[in-house]
Amino acid sequence: MRILITGCAGFIGYHLCESLLNNKKIKVFGIDNLNDYYDINLKKNRLSSLKTNKNFIFNRVDISNEKKLKDNFSKNKYNIVVNLAAQAGVRYSIEKPEIYQKSNVNGFFNILENCKNFKIKHLIHASTSSVYGNNKKFPLEEDFNTDKPLSFYAATKKSNEVMAYAYSNIYKLPVTILRFFTVYGPKGRPDMSLYKFTNAIINNKPVKLFNNGNHIRDFTYISDVINAIEKVIFSKIENKIPYQIYNVSSNNPKSLKKFLNEIEKNCNKISKKVYLKLQKGDVHKTHGSNILISKKLGFKPSVNIEKGIFNFVKWFNNNKI
Ligand SMILES: NC(=O)c1ccc[n+]([C@@H]2O[C@H](COP(=O)([O-])OP(=O)(O)OC[C@H]3O[C@@H](n4cnc5c(N)ncnc54)[C@H](O)[C@@H]3O)[C@@H](O)[C@H]2O)c1
Repeated sequence: MRILITGCAGFIGYHLCESLLNNKKIKVFGIDNLNDYYDINLKKNRLSSLKTNKNFIFNRVDISNEKKLKDNFSKNKYNIVVNLAAQAGVRYSIEKPEIYQKSNVNGFFNILENCKNFKIKHLIHASTSSVYGNNKKFPLEEDFNTDKPLSFYAATKKSNEVMAYAYSNIYKLPVTILRFFTVYGPKGRPDMSLYKFTNAIINNKPVKLFNNGNHIRDFTYISDVINAIEKVIFSKIENKIPYQIYNVSSNNPKSLKKFLNEIEKNCNKISKKVYLKLQKGDVHKTHGSNILISKKLGFKPSVNIEKGIFNFVKWFNNNKI
């Protein structure tokens, strides 16, 4: 089986490639534009670890580059595509919406076109819990309204979902959309709370708590997310319009204060805190139902935040990049 993972030098992409490479029957092709949204050394470090496996082939390709992407598809004859390449981050989308338009909308259109033209058997695409906006009913279910994204990041992901639906309907392209809920774990992203808080605590810097720390998030551990993606990769496609959306969540929301408290325990330090007001674009609470993916694919998250944060802090202490 030949699988393309876009965004392979990213947090989720790296872990997915690493896990798939355990299966000797799979050839993993990775592409990434290696942008400098966060420390590029972390991306290079993830990539060099993947490159030690001879079943991993990397090409530096930007998905918004129509010609390069088409050449890449044409050369490699993929069976399955997992599209994780995107400009992530809610807050950065307030400053630089144009990057989100280029990578997440134009880039995603190129992915759809190539999947259609090269008859890809299954496109799996990363969406986000942010598409639910400030829905007030919990847990969030896949068929809840997602018409009011609070950020441009969420708007680009919502548009991906509907673009993919149309391709699935018209061209019968099999698509699965995965709405990830705050993914965390070792080799995680420096722009996300776990990395930022740990870094601040260890370096005796103040921890900035937006919304006075009152956010609630359904933190989902990386190995559970990889397990969900792999269940989708190896699943049968059943629907008439071959299109499916799944939440990928732990279904176990925690307040940011509780999350911080757990990091402090693992660092053996109490943090200095700066309480800040709600940041534009941020949702108050996420809590995803994972009933659908559990019923259809037998997904069951298994790592709680105590174990997950322990693993992260251990990695952080041993790997300063
Ligand atoms: N981590 C989370 O909590 C989370 C939650 C919801 C959704 N997601 C989505 O999951 C996917 C992976 O997220 P992540 O946390 O691994 O982020 P990440 O930023 O670590 O990984 C994304 C990778 O894509 C690459 N990339 C960006 N634009 C590109 C382009 N135009 N062409 C080629 N490569 C490009 C980046 O260099 C990066 O290595 C993203 O689509 C993200 O929006 C993540």
